[in-house]
Amino acid sequence: MKFNELKIGDLTARVPIIQGGMGVGVSLSNLASAVANEGGIGIISGVQIGFREPDFLKNPIEANLRAIRSEIKKAREKSKGIIGMNLMTAMNNYELYVKEAVKEKIDLIISGAGLPIALPKLVKDSTTKIIPIVSSAKACRIIIKSWLKHDRLPDAVVVEGPLAGGHLGFKFEDIIENKIKSLKDLTVEVKELIKTYEEKYSVKIPVISAGGIRTKEEIEELIEAGADGVQLASAFVPTVECDAHDNFKLAYIKASDEDELIIKSPVGMPARAIKTDFLTRSLNEGCDPIKKCYKCMPNCDFNNIPYCISVGLINAVEGNDGLIFAGANLKTINKFTTVKEVISNLLDD
Ligand SMILES: Cc1cc2nc3c(=O)[nH]c(=O)nc-3n(C[C@H](O)[C@H](O)[C@H](O)COP(=O)(O)O)c2cc1C
Repeated sequence: MKFNELKIGDLTARVPIIQGGMGVGVSLSNLASAVANEGGIGIISGVQIGFREPDFLKNPIEANLRAIRSEIKKAREKSKGIIGMNLMTAMNNYELYVKEAVKEKIDLIISGAGLPIALPKLVKDSTTKIIPIVSSAKACRIIIKSWLKHDRLPDAVVVEGPLAGGHLGFKFEDIIENKIKSLKDLTVEVKELIKTYEEKYSVKIPVISAGGIRTKEEIEELIEAGADGVQLASAFVPTVECDAHDNFKLAYIKASDEDELIIKSPVGMPARAIKTDFLTRSLNEGCDPIKKCYKCMPNCDFNNIPYCISVGLINAVEGNDGLIFAGANLKTINKFTTVKEVISNLLDD
């Protein structure tokens, strides 16, 4: 199959692949620009993006805003391709961070981990495209109905299935008991819903499938089911361009499917992660008392969680024992590679 380009409004990606945002610090300007240079869409993760700024501990909001500006600028210097930002709805100061990215003229914003109801208002009068992540047609319909009150439709929709890495938009028990529809079936149901809006409003809203996609054949199957493109994240981790420490990449290369766990994340959602020593210890024994709260999420009951998610993710991306999110089917990820190689293997060109 020859893959079509991916058009999102007036943006055209030569290759119908979006690199999924990976926080904390796994997809920053280096990875995003490399993917954009290969014709895909590169996504900078906005989660605690300022963790390397010298004043991050004292002043996380300022540090994050500064890093949003500098990572977008660096990505633009390295690539003329399409660069977006992933900002999680569940984060504290979400609106502030979206506005900052829009001020920097980011091409698009992708938001999940909750319903990104406020997005249309936040990008008003800009050219920034807005793309919700959904895990069902029901969630997609709720978002669209609410956005239509602002005369806005999504510019595309990411459908994330049960095999994705990081937070998952399903009930913990349903994942464990294998009660979730496949990504293909979810793609079909969201596509059917989207078609009704496309016909009513005479617009094109691409549907992008995400979660556990590893091969060209899987992409072809999803495109045949109605997807206009795919979003992949884990496959880009062991690349030289990925912004994480080499130890993080090695954890992916070494892990097999049995080394993955579905956990109840402090964010209040299930998540897929690699069974690191940190995770095993935290889940079995609880971890050291949390001394410093990074205020990354509203309503985090930090006295009653097994670990601080910010600390776990930051430690891991810096190469230490910590929390490593990953998609399913890790056995297929087994060597250091480059973004060019990942994309050309997927497209087989
Ligand atoms: C290390 C890691 C971190 C992630 N962080 C985020 C995030 O901050 N926000 C988000 O919406 N999705 C996040 N995701 C989900 C990805 O963007 C993507 O949709 C998903 O992982 C796709 O599945 P795959 O990794 O199997 O390709 C993360 C995934 C991984 C593997």
